[in-house]
Amino acid sequence: MRQIWIRKAGGPESLVVKEAPDPAPKTGEIRIRVEASGVNFADILGRMGLYPDCPPLPVVVGYEVGGRVDALGTGVDPGWMGRDVFAVTRFGGYSDVICVPESHVFVRPVGMSAAEGAALPVNYLTAWQLIVVMGGLKPYETMLVHSAGGGVGIAATQIAKHIGAKVIGTASGSKHERLKSFGADHLIDYRREDFEARTKEITNGRGVELILDAVGGDSLKKGYRLLAPTGRLGMFGVSSAANAKQRDLVNIFRTFANTPWFLFTPLALLNANKGVFGVNLGHMWREIDRMRMWMDDLLDLWSKGAIKPQIDRVFTFDEAPLAHHYVQDRKNLGKVILKP
Ligand SMILES: NC(=O)c1ccc[n+]([C@@H]2O[C@H](COP(=O)([O-])OP(=O)(O)OC[C@H]3O[C@@H](n4cnc5c(N)ncnc54)[C@H](OP(=O)(O)O)[C@@H]3O)[C@@H](O)[C@H]2O)c1
Repeated sequence: MRQIWIRKAGGPESLVVKEAPDPAPKTGEIRIRVEASGVNFADILGRMGLYPDCPPLPVVVGYEVGGRVDALGTGVDPGWMGRDVFAVTRFGGYSDVICVPESHVFVRPVGMSAAEGAALPVNYLTAWQLIVVMGGLKPYETMLVHSAGGGVGIAATQIAKHIGAKVIGTASGSKHERLKSFGADHLIDYRREDFEARTKEITNGRGVELILDAVGGDSLKKGYRLLAPTGRLGMFGVSSAANAKQRDLVNIFRTFANTPWFLFTPLALLNANKGVFGVNLGHMWREIDRMRMWMDDLLDLWSKGAIKPQIDRVFTFDEAPLAHHYVQDRKNLGKVILKP
């Protein structure tokens, strides 16, 4: 098999392809011949040495794959053999062959490509948990989503529009036209405009009922202030700590210093009728039964055309450094995929 390894913490060039013997599936595992691996921002944080959940380096990261089943461990339903599937993988997804517990593999419906399958799990399950499960977004509410042009951002916009809510997104200005086609009602170029002032303007001073924030730091302070009564702030990342391509201690310190550690106190929340919650899909690995229920709902929406992963670029395994550069240069509009 071929795998993309992070040799040591550093820039995109720390990613190298290595070969190894194919793994054999253990009891309860399914082996997948991978045709597409999803790139996630967490992989980038792992490469930079900024992701606490990442196993010690050197490591093969990757949370999701699409492909075809080519071997089964003992105890696995023989009906899986030869099926087109996608799977959630807790690390190891940047491989052209991978063994995954049966519980974490999903049948790919007819018409869904391997790349689309690899683009679905992390972005859409995260957005679902944020919006439907914990955020409880209603049709008459307004949602503000940061990085609206990223994988999670597009998934979130599609889900929120399906619910019937209004969507305000922040993204680099060059992405605005395309993002409108995914249903975003208002877009803010956060690199040139203050998103807090613009959101107030758009909502006539009221603010919004749900915010999805994976930027972290100062953005959380502004977001908390922007919550209308009954508003909820969903925190799920710290991309502001990764502004450089190598670990930058000054930048990390700035994000840490700007984080509002003491703003969301019990009394403040109670008196303001506001809620704050966090999501880390990687920590839901043992809650696979729940995630499967959410995926059933998502696949139903996919079959009706209400959601559709947007594949922006496909890079080969050998081009993995370029794929990470591409995301960190903020060029992606949708999902970036690695193809063996
Ligand atoms: N907690 C969880 O379970 C979970 C799961 C999935 C993702 N996440 C988090 O959600 C965020 C988005 O993930 P994703 O996979 O959707 O991202 P993605 O598809 O890789 O998109 C990255 C986009 O984010 C924007 N961005 C904002 N700040 C950035 C920065 N400092 N460096 C580079 N890009 C930046 C850029 O677009 P613009 O310039 O247009 O803003 C960029 O194109 C990440 O922080 C990720 O860690 C968390």
